[in-house]
Amino acid sequence: MLKWYDQQVIYQIYPKSFQDTNQDGIGDLRGVIQRIPYLKQLGVTTIWLNPIYVSPQVDNGYDVSNYYAIDQSLGTMADVEALIAALHANGMFLLLDFVMNHTSDQHPWFQDAVAHPQGLYRDYYLWADAPAKQLPNNWGSFFGGSVWEPDPGATDQYYFHLFDRHMPDLNWKNPEVRHSMLEIAKFWVDKGIDGLRLDAFIHIDKADFHQNVPNQSTEPTIAEEFYAHLPHVQPYLSKFCGALRELKPDIFILGEAASASPELLIDYSRPENNQCNAVITFRSLVDREDQLDPQLPAEFQPKGLDVEGMKRQLTTIQTKLAGVSLPVLYWSNHDMARVATRYASPQYHQRSLKCLATMLYLQRGIPIIYYGEELGLENLQFSDLTSFNDWTVQPFYDRALAVGYSSAEALAMLNQTHKMAARGPMQWDAKQPNTGFSPATPWLHGTTKIADVASEQADSQSLLHFYQRLLRLKQTALFTQGNEIIQATPAGIFRFTRQLDQTAATVTCNLSNQPVTVMTDTTTEVQLLEGSVSHSGQQTTYQPWTLTVTQN
Ligand code: NOJ
Ligand code: CA
Repeated sequence: MLKWYDQQVIYQIYPKSFQDTNQDGIGDLRGVIQRIPYLKQLGVTTIWLNPIYVSPQVDNGYDVSNYYAIDQSLGTMADVEALIAALHANGMFLLLDFVMNHTSDQHPWFQDAVAHPQGLYRDYYLWADAPAKQLPNNWGSFFGGSVWEPDPGATDQYYFHLFDRHMPDLNWKNPEVRHSMLEIAKFWVDKGIDGLRLDAFIHIDKADFHQNVPNQSTEPTIAEEFYAHLPHVQPYLSKFCGALRELKPDIFILGEAASASPELLIDYSRPENNQCNAVITFRSLVDREDQLDPQLPAEFQPKGLDVEGMKRQLTTIQTKLAGVSLPVLYWSNHDMARVATRYASPQYHQRSLKCLATMLYLQRGIPIIYYGEELGLENLQFSDLTSFNDWTVQPFYDRALAVGYSSAEALAMLNQTHKMAARGPMQWDAKQPNTGFSPATPWLHGTTKIADVASEQADSQSLLHFYQRLLRLKQTALFTQGNEIIQATPAGIFRFTRQLDQTAATVTCNLSNQPVTVMTDTTTEVQLLEGSVSHSGQQTTYQPWTLTVTQN
């Protein structure tokens, strides 16, 4: 039987950047409520909010100090209750981000753990002895440096943090931790939310700390083999998700598994395993690596889309998940550059965005649209390093200058690739101050090209109107339930068929700056066409960044 979550279109909202209603320059929950009609018209059915709990905002809400209350910069518990009611009244659904791998160092559990080394809460976190002030091992944090930080209580121990040092990891081996985290999730399910996005769940089990990455480097090294996808992750997850399903059988659990291979996607989403319903992997996006400068870290170098690589990867994912779960389809999120900056063709900007959206979202799976993507919103351009408010930028910048880049070039690379540049304010109306986001200066600001709702609503050829048409098509039975075959096609062309009972459709996109000729497809009625095609015998030539969707 089809469930509500099998036919949803998710819209990801970074709450601080969507709509401010109390003139403090920070987006808020009231702003989300205000924009429900816009989202409904767009064709969105479900909203995923990045974390809204009380937080010192070291990592914009992923550092939680109280899971049972709303950060006062975003609103109140009454606001979230009003949001849930308003969404449900519109036949829509709400997913909250659930930060389960770590807390803030300001969380009372961690404060107690530091104040009372013999106390109950010490074992809520991960500690290692380091008597000679030597790091316990050489494992690296995702946010740079070591995963280890000295106990602020000045014992001979260090605590473990996979992300920022102000975000200590929880000890999921401790049954009290598992119980406490489940209680929090139950509280929110009881409030009436429809599902959770599980943040960084793949890291909740860690290897024995008495081992090092076998290398000669003196720098801490990213060591996923010791802290990602370890054997207890799945049992912990099954228990957690199973208990939530007892409370709410149709809860939708969306796992974030950044480094999951297609094989692991099966494990984490196979219904028999009672874990996630669907899983986000960062490995579905494939970048070109052929033009990288070896003198610089790859992370902040612009790369471009590897169309052939992505075709192979999506073919693998679609094949492995057929009959198992729905793949998650997305181009952007708050942890990466915006698609309009990362992959759009400078020559065919708008058409390329239409092609990219069509190629991905009409596939079998659940689309997640990152706020503003439907407008073609680009990364912010910051004019200095401090605006990024992220300490990863300085080392890259220094290195780039040391190997001969100008400061403008180094800054441009960061603006094009950095996650902070992708978190800019939503653009509602170019005629209003700060494009209608807020009359006050936005919490994060830089310059960016105007792509605003008001102008795109007035233009029937706009990307916004195209997204509306595309999402309407996506919600037909063929595109939510049909099976999928990705075809072998000439380089640059992405073509797949969807089929359900007696209906079938073919989606063909030329994702390149050159015309490409392919065999004419056998379906007939044109549902969507952008760009231009010409026929000759059995062959059809697609002009650069042209798409067709045909159906019989
Ligand atoms: C993944 C989130 O998407 C990211 O923004 C955050 O920094 C880490 N998890 C830590 O919570
Ligand atoms: Ca506000």
